[in-house]
Amino acid sequence: MTVATACGKIILFGEHAVVYGRPALAVPLSQLRARATVEAREQAGILIHARDLQREILVERSDVQDALVRITRLTLEKLGVSDNLRISVESDIPLASGFGSGAAISTAIARALNRYFGNSLTPAEISALVYETEKLYHGTPSGIDNTVIAYEQPIRFVRHTESANEITPFAMARPFALVVANTGIASPTKITVGDVRRGWTQETARYEAIFDAIGQIVDEAHEALGRGENERLGELMHRNQLALQALGVSAREIEDLIEVGGRAGAEGGKLSGGGRGGNVIFYVQEERAHEVRRALLGAGASSVLVTTVGA
Ligand code: PMV
Repeated sequence: MTVATACGKIILFGEHAVVYGRPALAVPLSQLRARATVEAREQAGILIHARDLQREILVERSDVQDALVRITRLTLEKLGVSDNLRISVESDIPLASGFGSGAAISTAIARALNRYFGNSLTPAEISALVYETEKLYHGTPSGIDNTVIAYEQPIRFVRHTESANEITPFAMARPFALVVANTGIASPTKITVGDVRRGWTQETARYEAIFDAIGQIVDEAHEALGRGENERLGELMHRNQLALQALGVSAREIEDLIEVGGRAGAEGGKLSGGGRGGNVIFYVQEERAHEVRRALLGAGASSVLVTTVGA
């Protein structure tokens, strides 16, 4: 039996604009994980058992549009092997919330198969396979989720359509506390990415200007993190949130949580990921984090995670 895991991730700055070639910053969330187990099966074929989804899928009889089926087939093709297998998956990562749950589950499966068959694939190769499955969830994914999860490091990411993406792992000069509040609203990224695409098609100049503003915020945040000027992060989150509002991907529930977090002492907050639901992140002084968490839970957040980024 072979087991592999993969972490969740959170985007700090730059979502949506990253689909249009601007930089974004994302970090792994090591405490949230997906796990996959691969073992030999006596009957013919490959059976995937997804415990959390209460699904059993026989790969040979299933639609390639299913992400679990697709990552299994792509990984076995890449490894050039076939066998009778049972693959079990489970995950602590909430679905459709901006934690990269889909990419983490696919990465865990690809890693477990890779390990089972002799470990010949590199993290970059696994990331590329997971990217293929991400297309099923996102339509036009930037590739940031699969990259951060495959490398499990903070990443500055720039998507290129004509050449290889720029993937720059970076170190934080000083760790900081991040509060991550889930709105409890599942919002598929594919929908908001599609809506932004429609807006951009109709009002290209306005959207391009917003993407430029977001790119500028990301550059400033990257510089601040590298120098340990963490006190700039709250203001940068606030500016990024205003730009996301202008793209039409915020929601009343997100704005309400940002206000409550701010009143409880957070220095700035923004949505993270596709928007309209999912997560809201806050930069807070460590000693305030638990007070902010309590206030957010009181205001209806379905869960609130306090984590240290860059430790
Ligand atoms: O919802 P998430 O965390 O998977 O992130 C989506 C990020 C977007 O920039 C909106 C889309 C993408 O593919 O990068």
